[in-house]
Amino acid sequence: PLPAPYRVPLPVPPVLTPRQDATTDYYEVTQKVATQEILPGHTTAIWGYEGTFPGPTLVSRSGRRTVVRHRNALPVPAVVHLHGGRTPSASDGYPTDLIVPDGFTGPLPHHDHQAGLAHGSRIYEYPLQQRAATLWYHDHRMDFTGASVWRGLAGFHLVHDDEEEALPLPRGDRDIPLMITDRAFDADGSFRYPATDPTLLHTPGVRPDYVEGVLGDVILVNGAPWPVLEVDAARYRLRIVNASNARRYRLELAPQPAGGGALVQIGSDGGLLATPRAHDAIVLAPAERFDVVVDFSRYRVGEEITLANRLGSGTTAAVMRFRIARRATDDSVVPARLSPIERLDPARATATRTFAFRDQGDEGWTINGRPFDPMRADATPRLGALEVWRFTSDFHHPVHLHLVHFQVLSRNGEAPGPYDAGWKDTIDLSPGEEVAIITRFTGYRGRFVFHCHNLEHEDMAMMANFEVV
Ligand code: C2O
Ligand code: CU
Repeated sequence: PLPAPYRVPLPVPPVLTPRQDATTDYYEVTQKVATQEILPGHTTAIWGYEGTFPGPTLVSRSGRRTVVRHRNALPVPAVVHLHGGRTPSASDGYPTDLIVPDGFTGPLPHHDHQAGLAHGSRIYEYPLQQRAATLWYHDHRMDFTGASVWRGLAGFHLVHDDEEEALPLPRGDRDIPLMITDRAFDADGSFRYPATDPTLLHTPGVRPDYVEGVLGDVILVNGAPWPVLEVDAARYRLRIVNASNARRYRLELAPQPAGGGALVQIGSDGGLLATPRAHDAIVLAPAERFDVVVDFSRYRVGEEITLANRLGSGTTAAVMRFRIARRATDDSVVPARLSPIERLDPARATATRTFAFRDQGDEGWTINGRPFDPMRADATPRLGALEVWRFTSDFHHPVHLHLVHFQVLSRNGEAPGPYDAGWKDTIDLSPGEEVAIITRFTGYRGRFVFHCHNLEHEDMAMMANFEVV
């Protein structure tokens, strides 16, 4: 039986403390098997960064180097990707750049790819030459990302900068990360995942009936089922990431406060918007982030507010609850101007590329008719080039580019949608849609991936390479 909702207090992952020198923050993280009480009264075996799900939160300053040594004490190889990070290729978590656990005797990739192997641990270097934003890190192992993330390999990595800190936004205890995931459980409390190969070593993917990816009937926030958070009657910043393998959400507060517009979006994947946008509801595809400010003083003390999911039904129709505990002073403000954003001009683009995301039956999930091949460059933008990329889709495919953030130019030939504002790294494509984005390939030369972030589609090869040259 599923637990009663709104009993477990919302956990907030602890922030790791780095060792520091003049230029750099150093972290050590061990990925290991652990048990966690997720459903009250049951223990669940997880794979966790530092043995927790979500993993610990890393907090970095923009422009200050962060170096993380990830030690792999799991029974399988692992890869770490900092999602939304502007990271050199060697530290970006390319799917075959495995950290092989000590003593591992299972299969390894073909020798063409063995240059990317590390044994025992790997050092990831993050220059973080990028603006403040809500990033997250997760496993990215070739063919087995979905199963590995499902077992718990995901955590927050927040980037702060002076520009954002100068704004009077809610902070401290009123700045809360919310990692939303769905999971299914067996009767003994273990995670249920329909992997073709339960060892997660040989045959990739899930049973063929999981065309939409793997969905669960329990909604977790920061690893707790339908948690509850006591809040002051004050403004809160909620940094929402949809870390689900495949589930999309339409989040709405219920009841809505008089006048609506309760979810005031201030940021997206790549940090602050130019100006805030008030929404009644927000739609999140896997991997998308929305930073919103909610003013709980619009409710009465004692009121219970549900964060509802209008795309769910039954147990998946609710996410968590807020209980308005007390009156409180609040000197936070959502400024009318947040951060200037340079509009990228498609007239100046030097290339336009088109990528079709399609289910090709026996070929699997493909981009332009082809499954992922680490040896093939599917696009070779020049360093610094401004390019327009067009995506078409036969299904729900959240399309994610590594290295860059982009702006949405159009959806089906019309203006971008209500959730497309700001700098994005993942775009929610619905069946039959055609979207155009624009980005500049600055930062680093080298090989990066772009892919569908429905993790089951990704594992079924809906991924491709771009090589910045
Ligand atoms: Cu969040 Cu390539 O991944
Ligand atoms: Cu997809």
